[in-house]
Amino acid sequence: MIDIDQVRADTPAVKFLTHFNNAGASLMPTSAYRAMLEYLQREQEIGGYETVLEYVEQTADFYVQAARSINASPAEIAFCESATKAWQLFFYSIPFKRGDRIITTQLDYGSNFVGFIQQHNRLGVEVVVIETDSNGDIDLVAMEREIDDRARLVSLSHIPTANGIINPAAQVGQIAKSAGVPYLLDACQSIGQIDVDVKQIGCSALSVTGRKYLRGPRGTGFLYVDENVLANIEPGWLDQRGVVLRGSDQYELLDSAKRFENFEVGFGARIGFGNALKYFNQIGAKNVEQRIIKLGTYCREKLHTVSGVSLHDNGAHRSGIVTFTLEGHTPVEIRRFLNQHKINIWACAGPGSLVDFQRRGIDSVARASVHYFNTEEEIEKMVASLSTL
Ligand SMILES: Cc1ncc(COP(=O)(O)O)c(C=O)c1O
Repeated sequence: MIDIDQVRADTPAVKFLTHFNNAGASLMPTSAYRAMLEYLQREQEIGGYETVLEYVEQTADFYVQAARSINASPAEIAFCESATKAWQLFFYSIPFKRGDRIITTQLDYGSNFVGFIQQHNRLGVEVVVIETDSNGDIDLVAMEREIDDRARLVSLSHIPTANGIINPAAQVGQIAKSAGVPYLLDACQSIGQIDVDVKQIGCSALSVTGRKYLRGPRGTGFLYVDENVLANIEPGWLDQRGVVLRGSDQYELLDSAKRFENFEVGFGARIGFGNALKYFNQIGAKNVEQRIIKLGTYCREKLHTVSGVSLHDNGAHRSGIVTFTLEGHTPVEIRRFLNQHKINIWACAGPGSLVDFQRRGIDSVARASVHYFNTEEEIEKMVASLSTL
């Protein structure tokens, strides 16, 4: 059980606004914000390099907390600035060649498609896009059929940016595993929202952002790489941080996923993110998932009662991301209107869900993304406001 009064007390902005843009960027808990601020203050007081030396333990704790959040080990974690960067770090390390196949789905994230298209144009890699069935779920039979001996990667976005569906990450893991194909999971919208266990899912690598459901600061993320995969992969580009440089003609890769890291990062942001991860781990992924799914379901039920509202989430399993449109108003108009009532939602258009939207024949949706610190009353308030539009 989550102590709702406590998590709301740790999130001071909820006194003044209703934040349903957690899939965009959530609100940091006070402890994470303070930890980052104290770090920056120390940098100003004693110097950047000197502060690193004072924060050795807290920095190490970032890797412990990140690993705990997905049931991995700290050596399998690399810190970086975003989910896209984490994803690219792994993707561009795969030595694709002409004729190789990438198996993806129409629900994959826009930036991921950019990477696929680039490798197609550069190298002649074939991109296979698995469609969804009439229920909106990924056609796993088609996926299994398309994975042949030329398949070099299976890519899945666990929860897409503008569709409430939760994709079957573990089932895709079984398919990839039995075919012996690396599996890259974009968990940008799922970690911090639902329980994600890399051992159970069986992914080779996974990418995460800090600012969304994990409630960390902007400009943070991490990459997980399975230790068995790590033994056989060299990052596409290397910083001296990722190796032991022996001389002008020799280096050795670090044993851990830190081989993917750069020397220079947002050190204070990493401390803030570590703290947000600790906060998440203390609440517990299962508790978080239970509450968010409950609030997401309630939000859909309530929106359904508003005349002119159409819900756009599909698939058998749904998250706290609720997408909808309102007859006679664009999603941007809805966002602006609710914002005037101090309710934050987002209007999703553009590249993030472009491929899925094209196939579904829509071009934009309003997105209310609930978190565990939100309440039923806040949902009722949003629905009441919408009814007056
Ligand atoms: C499914 C998914 N993957 C990746 C990203 C990119 O995350 P970032 O902006 O941290 O690179 C997003 C952002 O909305 C997303 O929704």
